[in-house]
Amino acid sequence: MRRPLTVAKAPIDEVIDADHQLTRLVFAFITASAVWLVFGTLVGLYLSLKFRWPEIDHVPWLTFGRLRPIHTNTVFWGFASNGMIGLAYYVVARTSRQRLHSYKLGWISLALIQISVVAGDICLAAGINNGAQEYREYIWPVMALFAGALVLTCYNFYWTISNRTTKEIYISNWYIMGALLWTISLATIAYLPFYQYGFAETAIQGYYMHQGVGMWFTPMVLGLTYYFLPKLLNKPIYSYSLGVLAFWTQMVFYTMIGAHHFLYSPLPWWLQTVAILFSIGMLVTVVAGTANFLLTMKGSGHAVRNTYAVPFLLVGVVYYFVGSAQGSFEALRSLNMIWHFNNYTIGHSHITMYGFVTFLIWGGVYGLLPRLSGREARQLFIGMHFWLAFIGVLIYGVSLSIGGTLQGLSWLAGKPFEDSVTLMAPYWLWRAIGGTLMFGSHLLFAYNVWCMLPSKSRDEAVETYTEVPSAS
Ligand code: HEM
Ligand code: HEM
Repeated sequence: MRRPLTVAKAPIDEVIDADHQLTRLVFAFITASAVWLVFGTLVGLYLSLKFRWPEIDHVPWLTFGRLRPIHTNTVFWGFASNGMIGLAYYVVARTSRQRLHSYKLGWISLALIQISVVAGDICLAAGINNGAQEYREYIWPVMALFAGALVLTCYNFYWTISNRTTKEIYISNWYIMGALLWTISLATIAYLPFYQYGFAETAIQGYYMHQGVGMWFTPMVLGLTYYFLPKLLNKPIYSYSLGVLAFWTQMVFYTMIGAHHFLYSPLPWWLQTVAILFSIGMLVTVVAGTANFLLTMKGSGHAVRNTYAVPFLLVGVVYYFVGSAQGSFEALRSLNMIWHFNNYTIGHSHITMYGFVTFLIWGGVYGLLPRLSGREARQLFIGMHFWLAFIGVLIYGVSLSIGGTLQGLSWLAGKPFEDSVTLMAPYWLWRAIGGTLMFGSHLLFAYNVWCMLPSKSRDEAVETYTEVPSAS
């Protein structure tokens, strides 16, 4: 049945005739995602306070070295991964016009991810980790659980897509399957015993860090946006070909750029140069992807004005361009010399992982959940979530970009390190202020998700539904 997806900033009165079992699975993933977001960013907020007030506590469990990886791994594997995978379960089945291959495998994947994040965080807090290897601090048995969840999800999606009742594989599914396959191989390679020490450890660390963000989070959210944006606007994507161009250039260029994390290091100079060249080449991918989304939105000002899901997507797309273009410049040797090792890179991480990835996840969540459950959160609270997060990340990004640049210039000028610490104090305070707004928005998000959960009566109403949902 064809039903309009665009709704005004008013309670919705139409719902998708979705598959009840799928709805429950999607909600379980999104609820888990919201819980991890609150926990992970509470830790992030506390960390940001420590920059301004380092003497705030003297508890071993709360030291910076333990809490930092708890923050990053929780938001990566707990918040963003659960959110993206949850939305992908819906998108894959819907665009394939097919029931999910196996609900049971979906629930097992969900459980494996939660167990891995709980176990991983407890280990990190207790000081049990895989060494100072960013984003792969979880010990291997823990990461094996996460990788297992990805394998099951990949298998589940593969058969759902394979049994599709449509002729074409929709572009979203290319991105989603690509992301899963890349990340499974990435997680395996990064944990091979001979890549845990020496020179190879450094090379693989660069490869892992950037493939993590570039071949997991980026293609997953882009794939989801290729579904949600045209759906919410009720029109087709501007150009399928641009989407395919962006997909393949992403696959080729992004895999070559990990070494830009280690410019001026003992890694071979030519390897660093290759990474820089492909980092610039990424502009092709990013411009193609951004243009495709913005041209799809052209003439749809009413959707931006009348919904909150579309503004979330719009912000995500703009930050995709801003953050990636910023990254391409940061990869140049002359500029990396200023920005490497300092807070500019932290700003870039949040401009991309938050402004881009997180906003696109939220756009998908607000676009989908009310139409699955028939229950919408209060518009006021969705609006407050949007503005607090938007202003918060703007303050976060701008303050650290300015502060980080001054920090780098101070180091280059040969001034004492302490000078750069004093110089950063007001910028760290601003980051904590931005972070407080962001954290407030996450509490609202969690509350909004709770408000959108299906009611029992609605559950019973759709329980009897058996028809395969239409992809239109
Ligand atoms: C064209 C695209 C991009 C390029 C060329 C690029 C380039 C860079 C560079 C040069 C660094 C700093 C390396 C250093 O000096 O330490 C960096 C760091 C980082 N980037 Fe990007 N970036 C891009 C897009 C993205 C996207 C889309 C994301 C997130 C989804 C992202 C997430 C990160 C993160 C988390 C770091 C910090 C890594 C660390 O912990 O050291 N980047 N990026
Ligand atoms: C209330 C919101 C947040 C606050 C206050 C916050 C704060 C922080 C702080 C203080 C750090 C350590 C920076 C350092 O070592 O100098 C950090 C690191 C990081 N955070 Fe967040 N964060 C927040 C939300 C998020 C979210 C939602 C994500 C991802 C979806 C994220 C991803 C990261 C990453 C990737 C790093 C490592 C950056 C790097 O090494 O370049 N953060 N965050």
